[in-house]
Amino acid sequence: MGMEFVDLFNQWASSYDDTVSGKDPEYQEVFERYDEMLTRLASLSKSPVMEFGVGTGNLTRKMVDQEKVVLGIEPSSEMRRIAKVKCPEAALYDGNFLDFPSLITPIRSIVSSFAFHHLTASEKVEAIGKFYHRLVNDGQVIFIDTIFKDETHKKELIDDAEKSGFSNLAKDLQEEYYPYLEDLREMFVKGGFKVSFEQLNKYAWLIQADKGE
Ligand SMILES: C[S@@+](CC[C@H](N)C(=O)[O-])C[C@H]1O[C@@H](n2cnc3c(N)ncnc32)[C@H](O)[C@@H]1O
Repeated sequence: MGMEFVDLFNQWASSYDDTVSGKDPEYQEVFERYDEMLTRLASLSKSPVMEFGVGTGNLTRKMVDQEKVVLGIEPSSEMRRIAKVKCPEAALYDGNFLDFPSLITPIRSIVSSFAFHHLTASEKVEAIGKFYHRLVNDGQVIFIDTIFKDETHKKELIDDAEKSGFSNLAKDLQEEYYPYLEDLREMFVKGGFKVSFEQLNKYAWLIQADKGE
């Protein structure tokens, strides 16, 4: 997996919380009800939790406030630095979805918000395989991220962004690896999970995948 993007996240870290709180008009709709979405995800998680793509620690903070033990994985040193200040109680490690420290704690929930789209389709399949092995028998993957319902929906969102003059958003929607819902469903099902999806705003979906027996 390429790590070129880490520089971008290091640069974005200091203004990241402004973006998610709606100060950047281009990304307002992407992060609409951000705080509420993270609160929901935090409440669904079961301790001990492994979180990927911690960012500035907003979801981490909520889970720790709910007395959950959180092991956070984040590749950007600058994001980790801010998250550590915001959430000193959490154990934060350098790593990513595919390459992370092998910690002995049994993991009941694997969570992530707005990060899984950084993996290509084959990397997502590989990561789902790792999640299956890392989770306890009745463990769960719980993610929030942008998903396209299908090709028509993807085109509509890109057209909408272009019409609004949001060229960065339109470019992101075309260049990042946002999955189609049915492709993501198949990846989780083939990986041994029972999965469900719920749309939370124009872009973001809640993805819940149960390992089960
Ligand atoms: C849009 S931010 C989301 C941060 C936080 N989860 C939130 O909800 O605000 C994406 C984060 O994922 C991290 N990231 C990027 N690629 C990753 C990968 N392959 N594995 C894990 N994290 C990754 C970035 O460094 C960044 O902190």
